[in-house]
Amino acid sequence: MTITPQEPITQTQLLLEMEQVVEDNLNRHLSVAKEWFPHEYVPWSEGRTFAGVLDGEPWRPEDSQVSDVARSALVVNLLTEDNLPSYHHEIATLFGRDAAWGEWVHRWTAEEGRHAIAIRDYLLVTRAVDPDALERARMQHMSTGYQSAHDQELLRSIAYVSFQELATRVSHRNTGRLTQDPVADQLLARVATDENLHMVFYRNLLQAALQIAPDQTMRAITDVVTTFEMPGANIEGFQRKAVEIAIAGVYDLRQHRDDVLMPVLRYWKVFDLEGLGPAGEEARTELAAFLDTLETQASRFEQRRDRLRERLAARV
Ligand SMILES: [Fe+2]
Ligand SMILES: [Fe+2]
Repeated sequence: MTITPQEPITQTQLLLEMEQVVEDNLNRHLSVAKEWFPHEYVPWSEGRTFAGVLDGEPWRPEDSQVSDVARSALVVNLLTEDNLPSYHHEIATLFGRDAAWGEWVHRWTAEEGRHAIAIRDYLLVTRAVDPDALERARMQHMSTGYQSAHDQELLRSIAYVSFQELATRVSHRNTGRLTQDPVADQLLARVATDENLHMVFYRNLLQAALQIAPDQTMRAITDVVTTFEMPGANIEGFQRKAVEIAIAGVYDLRQHRDDVLMPVLRYWKVFDLEGLGPAGEEARTELAAFLDTLETQASRFEQRRDRLRERLAARV
């Protein structure tokens, strides 16, 4: 099927055109995703009843065995996972409930549901965070909800989740390491494995879209990359936490560019694609310029962080 610039493909056409790819990738996903049990990853015997209804022991800051920045990263990751009902709403409205699209929506939601369960159980059992503050933050964050910046636009939404799933993979993986707790590390590595498979699913869909509608898809990729925000960006105090998290090396501009954007863009071969029309070429040029700017910003950030670390080390 050839799409001329005068005839942009509609979302309904795209949903239909991509149905087979979705089905193939759903089957692929089901064949490689391994069953796992969140309860096996939680050290239940460490748990103690909290103060309140059952009159247990109040939480005290000394209970927490993880660093302040590890705690911030754990809470950001958990609150991000907590907003699953909003994400479900976004993709269910966009992908629909029919055939393979609908089956993916439900399967993906079920897998994502494990993430908040597992992380919350771990945090409460190990008393890593203030449980009252955590619950208030969850209420506040979920009451705000999440709305995609891509306004129900299929190509941009698939491009966004391709990067976002990989971004959460990196963030979970590095948060696990930062805790210096082998139990948290193992749990978050397991969650990160799920995120990686989700990324693969969406990445393959977008690759098919590049074949079906190259110019429109190229534009979608550029729009998403140049405006990317983490899904938890509306968490209260996110900016401050994001800086802490970047300084700790959990998720920073260098990782965002080199470990999230570039591997996916390389997989799509965006800089080697042939046959783009003027609109697609324009989008690709914009993308290349953006990536260059991001390279400069990432290097500057690293230099500033190195200086900060040297100053802190000199103080000790
Ligand atoms: Fe997740
Ligand atoms: Fe995911």
